[in-house]
Formats: sequence, structure tokens, C-alpha cells
Amino acid sequence: MPTGTGFASPTGAEATTGGIETAMQAAAILAPAGAEQLKIAPNANGFGAEITGIQLKDADAATFAAVEAAFNRYSVVCLRDQRMTPPELRDTIKRFGPLETHTLLQYTLPGIPEIYVLANIEENGRQIGAHNEGIGWHTDLSYKEKPVMMTALYGLICPPEGADTLFADMTLAYEALPEDEKRRLDGLRIHHSYQSWMATRADRAPLTEAQKALTPDVKHPLIRTHPVTKRKSLFIGTGTVWGIDGMDRAEGKALVDRLVEYATEPRFQLAHKWREGDLVLWDNRCTLHTGTLFDDQKYKRHIHRMMVKGDLPF
Ligand SMILES: [Fe+2]
Repeated sequence: MPTGTGFASPTGAEATTGGIETAMQAAAILAPAGAEQLKIAPNANGFGAEITGIQLKDADAATFAAVEAAFNRYSVVCLRDQRMTPPELRDTIKRFGPLETHTLLQYTLPGIPEIYVLANIEENGRQIGAHNEGIGWHTDLSYKEKPVMMTALYGLICPPEGADTLFADMTLAYEALPEDEKRRLDGLRIHHSYQSWMATRADRAPLTEAQKALTPDVKHPLIRTHPVTKRKSLFIGTGTVWGIDGMDRAEGKALVDRLVEYATEPRFQLAHKWREGDLVLWDNRCTLHTGTLFDDQKYKRHIHRMMVKGDLPF
């Protein structure tokens, strides 16, 4: 298992970077009551932060801006002890930007199609959510022309062990590359094919023509610039990666696989151990993530997932 610092015991104290301090000061000036309670505790290496003391659904503009700044700075944030109904969750996440709809509608929440259910729970003879989805390092909807910016997971029922969500910091991984390797990768584009990937999955029904029309192949820069922080990161993955544009397919795939192996080394990782009420937000522009398994005979798991639309990668 990885040895990421995890949210459970962040080793950093208070935020120490300029962006967050500025946001916190703004919060203090504009909303003293909220700012007093808001606590942002980043991990020592600057990847991941735990946020406590607020209910995000009630956040005023300044407090919300501080959370947004922490999201951009630390790439993965966990807000503890959130209490939200599904409509409140939808309305809260919508404050970060327009919500993404889902290609597969089977497990979206009845009446709230922006919420996708992950669960091993049956109600009225029907599985209410997808189970064991998202295993394998990836970034969400990277096979789309405009991949999603943020993914939000809200934990309703969380097993006491297992089911960790693992994250890897693609900015740190990029920055740690030798300069000649950075130059070699500069300008390469990754070719994603959702349709080819789905065709390899025996557990899924074939895509309809309408679903295919929504998911043409796309090519994205392998090195991506974060539109807010301007930092560069690796934009890689597994699953839908077909190869590298203009390169022999096997050679391109092998290069991406090698990069994923490197960029998900424990030194770049963070393991999130779930507690009920956790709202975890991650930045798909500069991280990889993977689900992990749990004892699904012994434990129940119930998670609500939402995604916020993103821009064209550059
Ligand atoms: Fe995912």
C-alpha cells in the first residue's frame, strides 16, 4: 500500500503559501465570523489539505473563495463533517462551475441526474449505484475534448477499512523530472479513445450510437499548464489511453505506462481514508487517482459523485 501522508494526520500546520494566506486574509476582512472557524491544514509537501470548521453549503463568498484557493493550491481537499442533502450537494458544487452530465445514466440519482451514485447497496431489487468503479490510475473524463476540472465525492456510508481513494500529484511528478526528459515530452499529445476502451470491458453493455457520438477520440497535451496556478504537470492516465499521437501505438502506450508508474510512486501519493461526512474535491487537471477495493461482503459503501466542467487543456 502507498505511504502517502493522508488526511487523517496532516503533518503541516496552518497554510503557509501566499495564495491561501491572501485568501484567508480576504476571508478575515470580509467575513470575520466565518474566517474564525475556517481551518485549512495542508500536508507538509503541499499536496492535499484538510478543511474543518465550516459547512460548505453555508459558506459566504469569502469563505468559499478561500476553499477554492485551497483547492487550486493543494489539488485535493477534504472538507470534514459535511451535512448535505442531495439538492444541497448539487447546489454547493455548482458554485465551483457548471456541472458535468454523465454519459451513462443507469446510476444517477433519480431526480438529480448530476449526482452519480457509487454503492454496493440494493433497494427494491435494484443496485442503486456502480460498484468497484474507477480502479486504476486515471483522471476523470480525460477522454473528452474538455475534461472535467473538479470531481467531488461525498461519503454517506464509508467502510471502516479499505476503499481508500489514492491520489498522485502530477505537478510534483513533472517538476521532479530531469530537464532533458521534460524537453523530450514537451509537445507530445496523448490520444484517448473511450470507445476502444469500453469495447474491452466485458462488464459493460455496448455503447449506443448516441453515446458514441458524445465520445469521439481526442488528443491532449501530455504536459499541461494549470490555468489558475500556471504550473505545469503531467496529464497522463490509463484505461482510455490509446497511445501518443504520431508515435507507434505500442511505443506510445509503453511511454505513457512508464510515466504513470513513475508519477504514482509513493513519494507523489496521498491516501484518503474515508469518514462519513467527508466531501473530497480534487483537481483533475493536475492529479491522478484510483479507487481501491474493500470487503464488500462485510461492509456497505455509499458515495455521491459530482463533476464540474473544465476547459480545453493547453
Ligand atoms: Fe475517477
